[in-house]
Amino acid sequence: MNSSFKAVKITDRVYWVGAIDWELRNFHGYRTSRGTSYNAYLILADEITLVDTVRRPFFDEMIARIRSVVDPTKIRHVISTHSELDHAGSLGPLLEVATSASVVASAQGKSALAAHLHWDRDVGVMADGGRMSLGDASLRFFEARMLHWPDSMFAYLEEEGVLFSNDAFGMHLASSARFADELDAGICNREAAKYFANILLPFCGPLSKLLGELEKTNLDLRLIAPDHGPVWRQKPEQIIERYARWATRPSSAKAVVVFDSMWQSTDQMARAIADGLAQGGLQVEVMPLKAAHRSDVATELLDAGALLVGSPTLNNQMYPTMVGLMSYLKGLRPQGLIGAAFGSYGWGGQGVAQLDKALDEMGVERVEKGLRVRYVPDGEALASCHALGQRVAARLKEKLA
Ligand code: FEO
Repeated sequence: MNSSFKAVKITDRVYWVGAIDWELRNFHGYRTSRGTSYNAYLILADEITLVDTVRRPFFDEMIARIRSVVDPTKIRHVISTHSELDHAGSLGPLLEVATSASVVASAQGKSALAAHLHWDRDVGVMADGGRMSLGDASLRFFEARMLHWPDSMFAYLEEEGVLFSNDAFGMHLASSARFADELDAGICNREAAKYFANILLPFCGPLSKLLGELEKTNLDLRLIAPDHGPVWRQKPEQIIERYARWATRPSSAKAVVVFDSMWQSTDQMARAIADGLAQGGLQVEVMPLKAAHRSDVATELLDAGALLVGSPTLNNQMYPTMVGLMSYLKGLRPQGLIGAAFGSYGWGGQGVAQLDKALDEMGVERVEKGLRVRYVPDGEALASCHALGQRVAARLKEKLA
């Protein structure tokens, strides 16, 4: 076993004992351009406690980091903040080493762990607001249902003001730095926003509710320790404030134009529409799917006010890449968008109608029915595209006024 892996001290009693995945580029459909980390935290209290584990292939790295500060057989408790296998995947092999450790989870976590790990192990259940003594330290638990799994919960180390927030407040970012203040602030903010847009956006309702409840508890919050990416040490309230703002998905004077194209006709339409949007006073992000990934589109939509989507028609259908994009965006449920569909076609032209339907299902307010152009757009067609962009810009500016 590689013994070069060391724990990283986070506070007097808390050590990071996770693993860094420098290679990961796809996390269930989210492009993780900078890799990720799986964070596990060891609390050196009288009753030594581990908060979460790591993805199974990284077990050896985690156990080596634990060994660098304590004999893992002395672990008394393992807290599972939710059962997704990037955090619960090493529970089985860990418990073969830490044979006297108890496992603690939320009520839903107990059944979810059984469904993942197929064990009949007794799991201690922590209710919302429950406390657990570790001897000279104590943990308090907050149910965080749907943030982002049904069984999610936060754990708070009262003596040191550390909130173990499972996936919330995290980001997919592999780095040798363990604290956000050691990283480039621009990269950190961008990756935190991308994470929110792609993981937490569907759960803005429960998120706002939980943030409100946490505020009422007046926690002495000195540090936020998420399950991915860096620990928030300096002004941890700032990431909470950002989450509270993102949860309202504030629209700005920004439009996202996303499309795919077969013979550059829909591409030409997109460019003319983008020009109309820009001349209408909007910031415009043009995202051809041949170059842009859906998870980056979702990130741009986090603060956009308008979404314009374009597709050719292939065999009576929307272009396959656009089908995937619309399915992904529909699942993320961005609220309050206005927009339009467009596309070139040759025969039936069903692709644009299908895009219109997909926008309907997302609740996107339309300035007009989808704009279709047969084959290659001529000057008149491009002028129509440009005018469409200007109408969307005018409607968004009216809405924001
Ligand atoms: Fe990072 Fe929900 O697992």
